[in-house]
Amino acid sequence: MAKNILDTGIKLVKNVNRYNFGKGSLSELNIILDNRRELTINENNKRAVIFFIDEYFKNNMEPLSKIIFLNNDKIFYVNTKDEPHTEVIDEYKKEIINLGLEDPCAIVGIGGGISLDTSKAVSNILKNEGKASDYQGWDLLKNQGVFKIGIPTISGTGSESTRTCVLTNSSTGLKLGMNSDYTVFDHIIMDSELTKTVTRNQYFYTGMDAYIHCFESLNGNYRNAIGDAYSRESMRLCKEVFDSEEMMSDINREKLMVASYVGGCAIASSYVGVVHPFSAGLSVVLGIHHCIANCIVMRAMEQFYPMVYNEFWNMVEKQKIVIPAKVCDKLTDDEYECLYNSTIIHEKPLTNALGSNFKEILTKDNVINLFKMM
Ligand SMILES: [Fe+2]
Repeated sequence: MAKNILDTGIKLVKNVNRYNFGKGSLSELNIILDNRRELTINENNKRAVIFFIDEYFKNNMEPLSKIIFLNNDKIFYVNTKDEPHTEVIDEYKKEIINLGLEDPCAIVGIGGGISLDTSKAVSNILKNEGKASDYQGWDLLKNQGVFKIGIPTISGTGSESTRTCVLTNSSTGLKLGMNSDYTVFDHIIMDSELTKTVTRNQYFYTGMDAYIHCFESLNGNYRNAIGDAYSRESMRLCKEVFDSEEMMSDINREKLMVASYVGGCAIASSYVGVVHPFSAGLSVVLGIHHCIANCIVMRAMEQFYPMVYNEFWNMVEKQKIVIPAKVCDKLTDDEYECLYNSTIIHEKPLTNALGSNFKEILTKDNVINLFKMM
């Protein structure tokens, strides 16, 4: 039976202002920063740029060797063991203020979703009073943040093009982003040379984040024509990449970078579905990273998404990817309870996927049984 599709109600969407694209485009960063440094010279704080760089590059700066760093710039190497917590963002704010750098001419995020989201959150919080947790939700930021530039070094999360930066509040367990037009990057650079050294498994897990966002969106109750168009194209590109013999060839890395960007645009104008709430449960309770958590959740998604379930597992097999199993096998009752709570809290995507009576489908027993399949 055909679904009764409802409008998302989203009528106004902010995109990234400008982007550079193509092999070698990283060198454009120096030109952008030169302009920013010139524009914003002031008495107290001259031309500083704050970089948030994935810690992977700390002892491996060769891929970033084109970037010209000046003396008063500050580099933070982002720890990617944990996904960003609101407390960590507050710590960065404190440190930046202590260094007298609270008014930099730009913030540059270089890395995967964790580094990009960290740079977006810090840019926001430097220009908005209070703590990062005050702004978890929708349209709570009052001021435009510091000019921000995003440079993805792995493809799939879409962080480069979304209006959110996902943060976990350790004290409340809430995993929710600062959803705001102010969170969108002002400029991004998509240079597929930077994704060359990603491991095959990680390349797949992260790339699949785009594919999963898009099928969740296309299977939702709340849709719009633009979100659908972006989603279809992103999924098409993902399938081309992961159905091919050489998923990490030059051309495929470039395609996946586009799929990620377009996938991010898709979720800026639509909602996700069942996978992301369960994945958030795995991240909050067991500390499993977002993209691999999504893939683990796919073990239990046949009843919700039968077509893509088969497609997904065929691609896993084709690319010989290892997806962990039985991660929820031997948990305590308390842990299952936490998993249930941190899944069911995501009402928007669950309503999008299953309707407003989603709790009748996702009873506590059902949710726990689904986790036991992972
Ligand atoms: Fe995601």
